[in-house]
Amino acid sequence: MARNLQLYRGRIISPLAGGGTLDESDGALLVNAAGRIEYAGPYPGCPTGDEIVEYRNPDALILPGMIDTHVHAPQFPLRAQWSGELLNWLENVVFPFEARFSDADLARRVARDFFAAALKQGTTTMAVFSTVHAEATSICFDEAFKSGIRALIGKSMIDMCAPPDLTHSDKQNMADMEALARQWHKVDNGRLQYCVTPRYAGSCSRRLLRDCGDFARVNNLPVQSHLAENRAELDFVHSRHSYASGYTDIYARAGLLGERTIMAHAIYVPDADLDVLADSDTALAHCPCSNRFLQSGVMALRKYQERGLRIGLGSDVAGGWTLSMFNEMREAIESAKTWNFMHPESERPAPTALEALRLATLDGARALGLDGTIGSLEAGKEADFLLCTAPKEESRREGVDSTEKKLSELVYSTTAPSIQAAYIRGACVFLQGAL
Ligand code: GUN
Ligand code: FE
Repeated sequence: MARNLQLYRGRIISPLAGGGTLDESDGALLVNAAGRIEYAGPYPGCPTGDEIVEYRNPDALILPGMIDTHVHAPQFPLRAQWSGELLNWLENVVFPFEARFSDADLARRVARDFFAAALKQGTTTMAVFSTVHAEATSICFDEAFKSGIRALIGKSMIDMCAPPDLTHSDKQNMADMEALARQWHKVDNGRLQYCVTPRYAGSCSRRLLRDCGDFARVNNLPVQSHLAENRAELDFVHSRHSYASGYTDIYARAGLLGERTIMAHAIYVPDADLDVLADSDTALAHCPCSNRFLQSGVMALRKYQERGLRIGLGSDVAGGWTLSMFNEMREAIESAKTWNFMHPESERPAPTALEALRLATLDGARALGLDGTIGSLEAGKEADFLLCTAPKEESRREGVDSTEKKLSELVYSTTAPSIQAAYIRGACVFLQGAL
């Protein structure tokens, strides 16, 4: 069904692909029938739309949709369950619950709630780990499809060091992945993608990692996994892959690094391995909320950015306790300050709220290889955007008008900003009451 030209009028803030920021207090976003942005800029002088949505109250903002570059859908009900650091938490909290996803009804309920909650919080694109179960993973795709969200999703590949009911043979893992990729990759003109998802080197044999690397290369698929998240995890992984010189080398040998790969956490990466990541153009998902909640450590965001690595933000639910990317922006800023405190000799300025917005949108799109399509509000891109307002629970702060102050108000509110509406390819996928 053809839609008309839609014009959204209000204050627009967006990072720009060429650097800098669009901030128009009386801005216009013009979206065509194909869901593409025809114009983003000042309202005066803008081509007229057939339908105009006025979104002009003083607290209102039009922002690009948020991009969560690393998250676990089946862990959505497990948020805020601290049970010690990573390996204990996986064993005692995560794996027992993920084992229950042989139950298709549970898988559907959780996936439906997960994607609905993400859209409600303003996340329009996600890179998602499912469980090891093929049926639950297909259900996860199906619920993403129905919700309208943009997603990369993969079955968590596990063939060792996990409970028996989560451990599949290499053959079964590969057969499941092949069938899922055939069914779901590029569905709805690429809105959904199959992402090759070896869970982490601690639960994948050398052979399974190699097979994943081969499959991704032959089929030109994206790859996601975990890298160097926790000190005890490093020891455990090294003990299982003693042929490799380090954690990064395990993935390099398996052919899993490259421009279509995103690795989560990457806290404990020696300088030589940073070069390997940068030379292969491997992207990182920075998950500061999870890194703190699971007591994993503090990632050297600035140092990595200076190396030219592509880095987005990941909620890592349920390592992180919320899907809100506004919270993740705040955590990214605060964790950079913590890093400075720990390394006064090489202090770098913490990200501004504006830089945090870029991390949660355009940088996330770059990390997922989607920046030609989404991540900012610019003519020619697909129209993934939010209408949102600063939370009302606090009296408004004085003089909030500059871009930085306005975004800082959003990032540092005690409750998340209120998402009034979320659009993907110009289609409304979430609406809070009437506009
Ligand atoms: N490493 C392997 N699996 C997981 C997981 O589910 N969450 C996190 N944070 N790290 C992991
Ligand atoms: Fe994770």
